Amino acid sequence: MAQILQPTEENLRLLRKFLSFKGLVGIPSETVYGLAANALDAEACQKIFVAKGRPSNDPLICHVPNFESISKICTPNGLAKKLADKFWPGPLTMILPKKSIVPDIVTSGLDSVAVRCPAHPVFKRLIEGCEFPLAAPSANPFSYISPTSAEHVQSGLGNKIEYILDGGSCEHGLESTIIDIRNPNAPRILRYGALATEALEKALDREIAKPPKDLKPNQAALAPGALPKHYSPKTCLKLRNTPITAKEAENASQNTAFLFLRKPSDTRSKTDNIFWLSEGGQLDQIAANLFSALRRLDESHFDLIIAEEAPELELGLAINDRLRRAASQ
Ligand code: TXA
Ligand code: MG
Repeated sequence: MAQILQPTEENLRLLRKFLSFKGLVGIPSETVYGLAANALDAEACQKIFVAKGRPSNDPLICHVPNFESISKICTPNGLAKKLADKFWPGPLTMILPKKSIVPDIVTSGLDSVAVRCPAHPVFKRLIEGCEFPLAAPSANPFSYISPTSAEHVQSGLGNKIEYILDGGSCEHGLESTIIDIRNPNAPRILRYGALATEALEKALDREIAKPPKDLKPNQAALAPGALPKHYSPKTCLKLRNTPITAKEAENASQNTAFLFLRKPSDTRSKTDNIFWLSEGGQLDQIAANLFSALRRLDESHFDLIIAEEAPELELGLAINDRLRRAASQ
């Protein structure tokens, strides 16, 4: 099993050294836990793909300590500066033209690279002392539910890596929003995420192109690696785009779990197959609890999970994106 380390200065020094010698480390971020390696070292990054069982056509995000340091790995434009001023550090990943210092394996051979400056205080402390950017996908075996705690990383990849840095539970619980800004006149959202697209549109005072709602394999061309089946529990998951009634859940088989967006008000007797993601339907709470709830249900005895979809706005778009991929066969 991996060693779970607390973020002391001594441990951070040890992990930076380990990373500089091609090591992989599970790290906390404000979105989900990541599996980090030196982004400028092809051999180190290769290990990420092996540990996760991730196909080589699914590129990695490079994490940097501040906006200035992205110039080493990509060519920023005015829009990048504007978005970074407003949203970095935070859950926004920008796609920009890559520089040759970034090994091809990181970008799956593309001439663009994904860059993000994380806000998590522990990740920030780690990366501020690193002499290289950190490539880090979510720290889950390929296509399984993303991890939002050090224990999740341990259960999925603990036998593949040596260290996990503990930074508590992730604040957002959903991955970053990805925006392609190579053409600053035509920005495009490639992945819904923890930063609502409404906030981006407000900051830019314009509409931004969004990913199509239906999940088609050819969406891979838009955001490589954005496969229809992703974030998936082993237990069969079905979605409802209308509210579930507590009565239905109470009358159903005890082998079916019902995942409500908010605590149902009409539950007469508390049954063991009713779960909820928030007290009052707040989207940020639903997002923060989604992956950990799916994991818990997947580890229980249920043979079917029925979950409610979120409203189609703000974080609801990212929540539904993850739910639909998780339910995809
Ligand atoms: O919140 C996050 O973004 C987390 C934390 C650890 O930062 N990371 C994360 O990485 O979600 P991952 O590997 O699970 O998702 C990265 C996705 C790829 O699957 C791909 O869709 C997109 O980022 N991506 C990376 N490089 C790209 C590029 N050059 N062009 C288009 N999409 C890219
Ligand atoms: Mg992922």
